[in-house]
Amino acid sequence: MGEFNNKVAIVTGAAHPMGMGYATSRRLAEAGASVVLTDRITDHDDQENLEARAEEIVAAGGEAVAIAVDVTMREQIDACIAHVIDRYGRLDILFNNAGSPVGVGDFLRMSDQQWDISYQVNIKGMANFCQAVLPHMIAQGGGAIVNNASMSGLGAVPLMAAYTASKFAVVGLTKALAAEFGARKVRVNAVCPGMIWTQMGQAELEHMREEGETFEQAKQRLVRADVVPLERWAAPAEVADAVAYLAGSRSSYISGVALPVAGGMAPGL
Ligand SMILES: NC(=O)c1ccc[n+]([C@@H]2O[C@H](COP(=O)([O-])OP(=O)(O)OC[C@H]3O[C@@H](n4cnc5c(N)ncnc54)[C@H](O)[C@@H]3O)[C@@H](O)[C@H]2O)c1
Repeated sequence: MGEFNNKVAIVTGAAHPMGMGYATSRRLAEAGASVVLTDRITDHDDQENLEARAEEIVAAGGEAVAIAVDVTMREQIDACIAHVIDRYGRLDILFNNAGSPVGVGDFLRMSDQQWDISYQVNIKGMANFCQAVLPHMIAQGGGAIVNNASMSGLGAVPLMAAYTASKFAVVGLTKALAAEFGARKVRVNAVCPGMIWTQMGQAELEHMREEGETFEQAKQRLVRADVVPLERWAAPAEVADAVAYLAGSRSSYISGVALPVAGGMAPGL
């Protein structure tokens, strides 16, 4: 009997094969959950990508469905939730994972558009999804929400102002909702990943590469022992394990935490 048998989970930003959204979807499905994989769809490739992730889970013996949802579009979220309730009749877990790295870069050059996308996707999108799922969780007697923040939600390093501001807001939202909905049996926690080897992690690495440095040298430098005591990047599955813990009954008395999954890395200033 899997830990998540008869549970229904929604995961946002789940289309990429190397992403934490997909790794978590697989982790939850392997433990028995029915998983709804969602992501923003901008073209045919995106659609195929998302559907392929759900099909992989089904091929491995799990229950999964793919639904296109842009987290900044409230009507798409509402349609997704209506579909989930119609198909499964319940909703137990939300992994609010979708995020945008556009708020990374030189503060003095940061555009209104970068600020807006950072805010709309990283914080408002998560709030939108929470607002949509909470009534269902409350009505059925409880649920668990896990928000994907970042070590940038706990401290600051240079050249990440808008991203950092949005991720601090994710931690704030997490604590506020934990405080407001604990009495109605909904637990709300956050994970704060550090250096995770995903498509986004690799893109950030390219961004942080110093002059004359190779990709491989930058990859090693960013996880030097004085930065990341465990001296390595993490696999997305290691974050998925932390999410599964916070979403499951083994963390039944934990709410409002922002859990670093960062190999001992300090969050910065
Ligand atoms: N990779 C890292 O090192 C790292 C570290 C800390 C935090 N994070 C956070 O982890 C989360 C997952 O990132 P990842 O590294 O797995 O990369 P990823 O690119 O696989 O995941 C991000 C997903 O968000 C989706 N997305 C973007 N805008 C969206 C929108 N408007 N609506 C719906 N989906 C949207 C993307 O399509 C993508 O699938 C993000 O919130 C990111 O900020 C990543």
